[in-house]
Amino acid sequence: MALRRFDLEAGGDTFAFRPETEEKIAFWRAKYPAEKQRSAVIPLLWLAQKDNNGWLSEPAMREVADRLQMPYIRVYEVATFYTMFRLQPVGKYHVQLCGTTPCQLRGADKLKEVCKKEIGDKMYVTDDGRLSWEEVECLGACVNAPMVQINDDYYEDLTPESLTQILGKLKNGVEPTPGPQVDRVNSAPQGGAKALTDPALFDGSRNAIRTLPNLPAPAPEPEPVADPAQDALKAIQKTIASGAGAAAGEKKETAGERPPMVTIDPAAHDDLKRVKGIGPKNEDALNELGIYTFKQIAEWTPENVDWVEDFLSFPGRIERENWIGQAKLLAAGGETEFSKRVDAGEVPSSKDDED
Ligand code: FES
Repeated sequence: MALRRFDLEAGGDTFAFRPETEEKIAFWRAKYPAEKQRSAVIPLLWLAQKDNNGWLSEPAMREVADRLQMPYIRVYEVATFYTMFRLQPVGKYHVQLCGTTPCQLRGADKLKEVCKKEIGDKMYVTDDGRLSWEEVECLGACVNAPMVQINDDYYEDLTPESLTQILGKLKNGVEPTPGPQVDRVNSAPQGGAKALTDPALFDGSRNAIRTLPNLPAPAPEPEPVADPAQDALKAIQKTIASGAGAAAGEKKETAGERPPMVTIDPAAHDDLKRVKGIGPKNEDALNELGIYTFKQIAEWTPENVDWVEDFLSFPGRIERENWIGQAKLLAAGGETEFSKRVDAGEVPSSKDDED
């Protein structure tokens, strides 16, 4: 860091903030609680510097210390540590020339020569009071090196010629245009973008991901869990479908209305062979239709009877053998003469199909 000398003489004996600055002081002080007001020392020193023609006099530092109730030495320590605070008079336009490595590699030395030629030695103020300059450390605009800061503005991508022009304008009271002094926007490439120029990068057309590379193979479908009830239902549906298909060759359609089919735990199946007229073969056929209990047969409607007789190809037999009457009695827990014989093992047809 360059040695910075404090000019005790030039600052006079007094300093006062401009009236319009008071609002800004209140703004900064309001950011800190009452017991932490000294935290506002840097913004207040910055405002004092602006109100004191760009530098901090000793009276200006005292004014800040008094307002924040800080010891003078504490404010002095802050002001002398940060190079953003200047300790001696500067010109109306003070040039801070970055001399750190990136700017130095990009030609800062030649810019220094321009400053010396156009203004004079470091911290010298031109006779008209317009210009002064100093060398500072990196100002954070290295990508636009070499550069200078003049008051609050950056002038970047400088050459000796462009800096000479800028200083000439300031001497003549003309405001130069800040920012990059070459054909580029901010830090974008000179002459326009050199990469990422495909419009598809920005029009949203690439947002739709079609396939993901190395996408894991989908997990195999789990083996279906055995379900006897579902298996029975599928068998019934298959039987009905095949029966209907077979019937379709002989008869166009089955008359009546098919009885409701259900799935029932096998343990709850009735022995339908206890109904006279139902042997093992008919019992199997009824089971395949989803008919397992006396109660189901007892609830058949005339249309159901027509459908079953048509489907099993024995017209009139259900009524003739009174299946429904027998089923009602057996469903209620009663017995028939035939069921007693079946239960006693006296009816061979209840073991071998009688049909
Ligand atoms: S080195 Fe000059 S701005 Fe960073």
